[in-house]
Amino acid sequence: MIRAVVLISGRGSNLAALLAASLPVEFAAVISNRPQAEGLEHARRRGIPAIALDHRNYAERTAFDAELMRHIDAYRPDVVVLAGYMRILTEGFVAHYADRLVNIHPSLLPAFPGLDTHRRALAEGVKIHGCTVHFVTDRVDHGPIIAQAAVPVLSDDTEATLAQRVLAQEHRLYPMALRWLAEGRIEIVDGVARVSGEASQALLVPVSGPHGTPA
Ligand code: GAR
Repeated sequence: MIRAVVLISGRGSNLAALLAASLPVEFAAVISNRPQAEGLEHARRRGIPAIALDHRNYAERTAFDAELMRHIDAYRPDVVVLAGYMRILTEGFVAHYADRLVNIHPSLLPAFPGLDTHRRALAEGVKIHGCTVHFVTDRVDHGPIIAQAAVPVLSDDTEATLAQRVLAQEHRLYPMALRWLAEGRIEIVDGVARVSGEASQALLVPVSGPHGTPA
């Protein structure tokens, strides 16, 4: 068992997928920078400490991150899991959790870092899109890639249908990646994350149902 603290900012559907996955992970606490985040309920329902730390009460980003670190470290986590945590992290925060800080991002990185990934993917006309689980470095949405899931972009996609198709894969991908981490099977060599015993670190979703969802 490894101990994890999860950081969220909103809905928390990735958190819910992680909690439901029966992973060899003790979820020690869930912390949100937004007090109203729906995702905190997923933690409360399971009796996991759910902490709201409102970033608006801190004038400086460094002061907020210092307080956040204090809360996180009280739970002595082996890994800090960003699940829809929508704040830019300070260098000090990233350095403090080096090699034990992971994130999920709704694009096939290094394409489309930042916000509005689905809208930008449609605007660029890419035909394959997806999501990435990666270790966090101090460049936004960057770092050794642990796993990726790819979905087709369909000709009648809207931002909403594409987001939905990607999100369904996020809910498969993050538990898979966190399990690898918990099993101690991930090694970073020359900036590349490899998983021992896995021939592939990819999930590929073929076109099948009317909206590319498996029929
Ligand atoms: C997810 O799509 C996640 O990939 C994205 O926010 C959403 C959170 O949804 N994260 C980022 O964009 C981080 N750069 P959730 O709260 O339902 O898990």
